[in-house]
Amino acid sequence: MKCELAENGKHAIERLRINSYDLILTDITMPVMDGLQFLREIKEITPFTPVAIITGYPTFENAVEAMKEGARDFIVKPFNVEKIKTTIDRLLKEKRLIGNPLSGKEDLKKELIKRLQEIAVLQSISSELDELYDNRKIYERIVEMVSRLLMARDVAFGIIKDDLLRIEAATMDVKKEVPLSGPIERIIKNRTYLLLSQGEKDPLNNSILKSQLLLIPLIINGEVFGVLNITNKIDNRPFSEDEIYLAQTFGKKVSLRIENNALYELFYSNLLNTLRSLIASIEARDSYTKQHSERVTHYAIEIAEVMGLNSEEKESIQFGGYLHDIGKIGVRDTVLLKQGNLTEEEMAEIRLHPVIGESIVRPLKFLPAERELILHHHERFDGRGYPLGLAGEKIPLLARILAVADTYDAMTSTRPYRPAMSHELAIKELMNNSGTQFDPLVVKAFLQTKTGKGIRDSNLFTLHAKAYQREH
Ligand SMILES: [Fe+2]
Repeated sequence: MKCELAENGKHAIERLRINSYDLILTDITMPVMDGLQFLREIKEITPFTPVAIITGYPTFENAVEAMKEGARDFIVKPFNVEKIKTTIDRLLKEKRLIGNPLSGKEDLKKELIKRLQEIAVLQSISSELDELYDNRKIYERIVEMVSRLLMARDVAFGIIKDDLLRIEAATMDVKKEVPLSGPIERIIKNRTYLLLSQGEKDPLNNSILKSQLLLIPLIINGEVFGVLNITNKIDNRPFSEDEIYLAQTFGKKVSLRIENNALYELFYSNLLNTLRSLIASIEARDSYTKQHSERVTHYAIEIAEVMGLNSEEKESIQFGGYLHDIGKIGVRDTVLLKQGNLTEEEMAEIRLHPVIGESIVRPLKFLPAERELILHHHERFDGRGYPLGLAGEKIPLLARILAVADTYDAMTSTRPYRPAMSHELAIKELMNNSGTQFDPLVVKAFLQTKTGKGIRDSNLFTLHAKAYQREH
């Protein structure tokens, strides 16, 4: 096999005008002429020469565009030589089989192109969806992608739960819950797509359909768990066979992604539970910090409720609260439990624990809020905290909440180097440091919780703040 290298698209086009080639490999992002323009020009000169794209950053748009412009395969960098070899072999074999499509092998060509289109689109879908871990974001992205892929204005995605189709994401206004009847029931039973014509009843809102509606089932383990509703095409044309095929393929791929995500979440929630019990048992061995993380989480949730945080944020507190001091496993016990004053080095060692903690949970990519909470729970509202010295609202809200809960619990528990402070004194201390160490809104919210109540105004206390400064 002879191989020629062109410096850029323009040079390649010049050569294509003179010589004939069996196969072309190209990138998309290139100087002088980008890959899509290159594809368009190739089609003009030599429409039956297969082109494979090799690219480092395949986006969904790139893949769809490249396929529309006639690319026949999509190889994502980094690739190995074997992958290139098999692609080249396959494309050459297909070229021999298809030859010139005018020779009457139209059906075969159509079949092959469909399959290639499938590969390219799917590859770009996985690379886009693989970056998302949050189901809600995945659902939103699915709806967006289908809308662009089939050029349809109205796309909705619903999950079947408790005899209802619950709409999780949609490009249009739509009811949140749809009873399982008529077409939706048929889809669940037949497990295949359904095409409703203009004039039929729209199962989502019972109105009369103004254009065709394509319903695609999403299947895991042989069961339909969700439905994609696609309607109102931009070109007002009916869905073509190819489009239906593409939507079905997309449905299959997305089902797999959601299934993987569920497994991934299950795996990590098990892991988190293990971490949590590990922390509980470490804390249990030290009577001073016994159940510290559990109590801190409880107080932080109380504050979150007063502040009206949503369930997702409360869940982050639930996970992150238990794990907030996980970085202390990287700090020596002799330092952690030392009686008496700490040296500067020892203090520095303790102050590393938020950073160590964040690095421990960093592989759990779907927990960004929890990671932030762990990293920033010792920041101070006035910017004099650690590790980054963030100030005010630059400190994530969940970390500002945890700081109050953490300090309250630290003050009211006995430590090796000092006895526990009374509830009243601890509250007074929080109030005194509101606006400097703590976010005043969070302190205010804490005072309204069940735990924080019980003291309003008191000047009974002469604070011995110094004795309590060593809180970490
Ligand atoms: Fe801490």
